[in-house]
Amino acid sequence: MKVSQIETPALILEKRVLEENMARMDALLADSPMRLYPHYKSHKCPRIARLQLQRGAAGITCAKLSEAEDLADAGVPTIVIANQVVQPEKLGRLAILAGKCRLTVCADSDENILALERAMAVSGGTLHVLVEYDVGMRRCGAETREEVLPLAKLIEAQPHLRFEGIQAYAGHLAHERNLELREREMRRIEEDVRNLKRFLEDNGMQVREVAGGSTGTVMQKPRDTAYTQLQAGSYLFMDCAYGALNLPFQNALFLLTTVISVRADRITVDGGVKSIGMDQGGPRAVGMEDARLLMSEEHATVSTDGSRWKLNDKIRLIPGHCCTTFNLMDKIYFVDGADVLDVWPVVSRGKSQ
Ligand SMILES: Cc1ncc(COP(=O)(O)O)c(C=O)c1O
Repeated sequence: MKVSQIETPALILEKRVLEENMARMDALLADSPMRLYPHYKSHKCPRIARLQLQRGAAGITCAKLSEAEDLADAGVPTIVIANQVVQPEKLGRLAILAGKCRLTVCADSDENILALERAMAVSGGTLHVLVEYDVGMRRCGAETREEVLPLAKLIEAQPHLRFEGIQAYAGHLAHERNLELREREMRRIEEDVRNLKRFLEDNGMQVREVAGGSTGTVMQKPRDTAYTQLQAGSYLFMDCAYGALNLPFQNALFLLTTVISVRADRITVDGGVKSIGMDQGGPRAVGMEDARLLMSEEHATVSTDGSRWKLNDKIRLIPGHCCTTFNLMDKIYFVDGADVLDVWPVVSRGKSQ
C-alpha cells in the first residue's frame, strides 16, 4: 500500500526518523547512569513499546492502571506507573497486575500506602513503590525530605511493599523555552534530589531508583546525575511544542490530510481538532511552516496561495502535541517515504482510568 492511498485524516510515523530519534537518545544515554524507561502515554501503542524494549529500554513508564494492564497483556515485563493509584475500585486490579509483571507505582501519602498494602495482602506478592517528591511542578508529591523519610519507612515496613526510591519529575521545565532558566533550575533540582537521596541513605533507607526526566530536559542531565530512570516519551515523535526548543530530535509523526476545498487565498484539509492534539498549541503544515492555520473540529484551513493546490493533494500536519494526538486515533501507519510498511493499533487510546 502507498501512503497516497491511506484514507485520511491518518497518523503516519516515519520509520527512518523514528530510528534516528532512538539512536540520538541512545547516544545521549551512552555513558549516563540513567536507563531509559520511555513513557507509554506518548504513543499508547504496545508495538512501539516493544520496539523500545528491543532497542534496550529497561522498562516502560505509563500514567494509568489501564495502560499498565495493556502493557502487561502485551508481555512487557517491567512497568512503572509514574502516578498515584488511590481509588478503592482499582486497587484489587493493581494487586493482580503486580503478579503479572514487575510493577512499580508512586505514592505520596500514608493513607495510600496502607491501602496498597491491604490490596497486596489479598493477592500476595510484591509491589514496588516510589515516593513522589515535588521538585517544583506542584502536581503530586511530598514537598520536603522530612516528609519523604516517614513515607519511605512506612512503605518498607509493609510486608508486601518494597521501597524502590524517588519519583521526581520536573514537568514544569519540560517546555521551558528560556534555556538559561531551564539549565539553572535543572541544576538546582539535581542538587536537591542528590541531597534527598543522601538524607534517606543516612537514615537507613536504600534508594535503588530515582525516576523522572523528559524529552525537554534530557540535555540538561549531568553525566553523574543522581537519576537512574529517564521517563522521556515525546523524543520518538516530536511536535510543534518541542520543536521550539531546539532539541536533537526530528519530527517523525504527522497527521496526513487531504485537500477537500481550494479557494484563491486558502485551502482546507480534512483533519481538525478531533484528530490532532491542540492542548500545547496548534499544528503546522509541512512545507508551509509559516502559514496561518484555522482549526475546527474536522477541518484545518491553511492561508496560502490556492492556485498551487488541487483537490486530493496530501498535506502533512505536524501535531502541536504528539501525546494527545495519539490518544485521538485508533491506528498508526508505519511508513517509509511513499510506502506503508505496517499498521499498528493504538491499543490504549482513551485509556485514562
Ligand atoms: C511522569 C512523567 N514523566 C515524563 C514525562 C515526559 O514526557 P515527554 O518526554 O513526552 O515530555 C511526563 C509528561 O507528561 C510525565 O508526566
